[in-house]
Amino acid sequence: MLPHPLISAEDIAARVAALGGEIATALPPGPVHVVAVLRGAFVFAADLIRALPREIRCDFLAVRSYGSATETSGGVEITHDLALPIAGQHVLLVEDIVDTGLTLRHLLDRLATRQPASLHVCALLNKTSRRQTKVSADFVGFEIPDRFVVGYGLDHDQRYRNLPYVGTVEETPP
Ligand code: IMP
Repeated sequence: MLPHPLISAEDIAARVAALGGEIATALPPGPVHVVAVLRGAFVFAADLIRALPREIRCDFLAVRSYGSATETSGGVEITHDLALPIAGQHVLLVEDIVDTGLTLRHLLDRLATRQPASLHVCALLNKTSRRQTKVSADFVGFEIPDRFVVGYGLDHDQRYRNLPYVGTVEETPP
């Protein structure tokens, strides 16, 4: 069964275009060093950089914070580190979703030690109701309720990343 639509492709496109403008205005002058968090943020980041009228550089971090379940494990591991140094750079960390916030907290702490000139976060989705640590994104696409969502890069058991919209799936009881 296809996921139940929550945010349409059209609404995502409009919000991404607006976010590009907001970020371009808010970030300090100079190139923007965009860091997309793999794998969930790769679709969002691909659209966002094309909506960002600034000189950019692009890099990727891969993290593992979830298994195949829809609940967080609490542990965060960087499985692929940045290829480029970020010292003195204006870094924009691009996340798919901030849920408990544990992944973002961990990444911000790690990246801050590398002394970027500035460090901002843009998350497509925000589930504030599940936060376990005090952390927030500077730019948020959509606030969403406490539902497990897929599509537009987000997966459930590696499925649904290629859906053009964001939708909900419910876990089937065992
Ligand atoms: P957090 O550490 O709990 O904030 O979770 C961050 C990561 O968990 C995200 O970057 C996603 O990869 C994954 N995640 C959290 N909620 C969802 C969801 O509703 N759908 C798909 N992935 C999710």
